[in-house]
Amino acid sequence: MAEKPKYILAIESSCDDTAAAVLINDKVLSNVVARQQIHEEYGGVVPELASRAHQQNIVPVVDVALSRAGIQKEQLCAVAFTQGPGLMGSLLVGSSFAKSFALALQVPLIAVNHMQAHILAHFIAEEGFDKPTFPFLAMTISGGHTQIVRVDSYFSMEVIGETTDDAVGEAFDKSAKILGLPYPGGPLIDKYAQTGNPKAYQFTKPQVPGLNFSFSGLKTQILYFIQKNLKEDPDFVKNNMEDICASIQYTIINILMDKLKIAVKETGIKQVAIGGGVSANSGIRNTLKEAEKKYGWKTYIPKFEYTTDNAAMIGIVGYHKYLEEQFNDASVTSKARIEL
Ligand code: KG4
Ligand code: ZN
Repeated sequence: MAEKPKYILAIESSCDDTAAAVLINDKVLSNVVARQQIHEEYGGVVPELASRAHQQNIVPVVDVALSRAGIQKEQLCAVAFTQGPGLMGSLLVGSSFAKSFALALQVPLIAVNHMQAHILAHFIAEEGFDKPTFPFLAMTISGGHTQIVRVDSYFSMEVIGETTDDAVGEAFDKSAKILGLPYPGGPLIDKYAQTGNPKAYQFTKPQVPGLNFSFSGLKTQILYFIQKNLKEDPDFVKNNMEDICASIQYTIINILMDKLKIAVKETGIKQVAIGGGVSANSGIRNTLKEAEKKYGWKTYIPKFEYTTDNAAMIGIVGYHKYLEEQFNDASVTSKARIEL
């Protein structure tokens, strides 16, 4: 007899997006995200405002996720939620909701590591997308993290390189802020870069040993570069936005690719997956595709909606934890920092 399908409700609220998804086994039935516009005017996420907005959004977002999935809450087999890392006030809204919901429905509760979820998002069943086989290398590039991870199985992963200061998403967002672009500036740099010359301006890459990254020096370099040019021409940014963005993006991609190449060489693993908000970047996507031909890598780039924070990725981890009966009781606590 065929196995009964597993319906998993997943909640993600680690930063400024309130998200809920429903999966049937490894397939996504609904994936809903309520983005919080409020932070734009502050040029970054304001934790207190994020937490308040999560409280307003969580019930309607879950409601929409269930109705789009076309299922009743009584059909759910488990509730998965983001345990961390993230902003404590934001995490607490998701975890409190998940705990009460699981308790009311009398189904298992599953705590999920957000960074693991960015990696395992590749195991969501999607037409036209291959799932990686183990072992593979995952580079998680987001607003909070920059890591290269060796992934040996669903739950056996090792961080082999990470940033020593800013995350790559911050490098994008802070550069954008210097250029007067609104938060989050990453997607805008990407947009302008597409029509600019990546070699118009040269920025030096940081010298960090091994597989670790550093982005704070680049941000300072860009700041001084812009200040110097604005002194000579007040319209410098306005008139050269495309070239500036293309040059910044090119430098950041080079920094990431340099480390990935070392990681492949050191581990002998040529399967490379990317995850996290910055993997939405068109430059990174193109460069990785080229690396398939150039270096014989097999690369995995997630579907766009699974790159930035979303609950479907929490759901796929929930599904695999469900299969292994890795459940949590209501005493599980949210964690602002958490290892892989
Ligand atoms: O994974 P994510 O949604 O949230 C975190 O967990 O941080 O990543 C958000 C980050 C932001 O820094 C945003 O600017 C960046 O991802 N981002 C991009 C692009 N889309 C989002 N950066 C560069 N190019 C993009 N197209
Ligand atoms: Zn994230």
